[in-house]
Amino acid sequence: WPYYLAALAFGYLLGSIPFGLLFTRMAGLGDIRQIGSGNIGTTNVLRTGRKSLAAATLLGDGLKGTVAVLIVNHFYGQEMALIAGLGAFLGHLFPVWLKFKGGKGVATYLGILLGLYWPMFLLAAGIWIGMAFLFRYSSLSALTATLLTPIVLYLVFHQVQIAQMFVLLSVLLWAKHHENIGRLLRGEESKIGSKSKPAA
Ligand code: G3P
Repeated sequence: WPYYLAALAFGYLLGSIPFGLLFTRMAGLGDIRQIGSGNIGTTNVLRTGRKSLAAATLLGDGLKGTVAVLIVNHFYGQEMALIAGLGAFLGHLFPVWLKFKGGKGVATYLGILLGLYWPMFLLAAGIWIGMAFLFRYSSLSALTATLLTPIVLYLVFHQVQIAQMFVLLSVLLWAKHHENIGRLLRGEESKIGSKSKPAA
């Protein structure tokens, strides 16, 4: 079990790097947690109007998950890579550096998926993009993609172990979106491209 703990810690350290917070601060925009929804992720960085910063945040928050999984998979195999992926996700959601108040996990979820099982990454990204195109809610797109990911992993690709871990990641991601779910149900969620959401 020391190896499991090491994989978890390694993933956690990578995952806890808050790229959205760092990039917006470096760009002189102040604290992203004071803007829009207060979240540190891509969707909220986009509310600053800086598309390149949002793209950089998406890449950073995503690839930290991919890198954690790929490195551990290379040296120790898939089971350990799953643990590293879980660590990266927990690091992003609950970073010690931000008093455990991290992001909602969408980019990191997709990055981990890319590193573990890329065909499902392509499908999940496709579902996100399709839903965003149809309804223009970032949160709804993420909720749909992450609801379907474990189901498709299990039923279509028969990746039982990976599916099991993504059940856990999806539950955590949905829990982190409870305010978004409330806003969606009340018809108050802000659409992609609008900057008018009140602070959560
Ligand atoms: O996925 C992040 C997105 O689903 C919600 O972000 O800033 O609108 O709460 P935000």
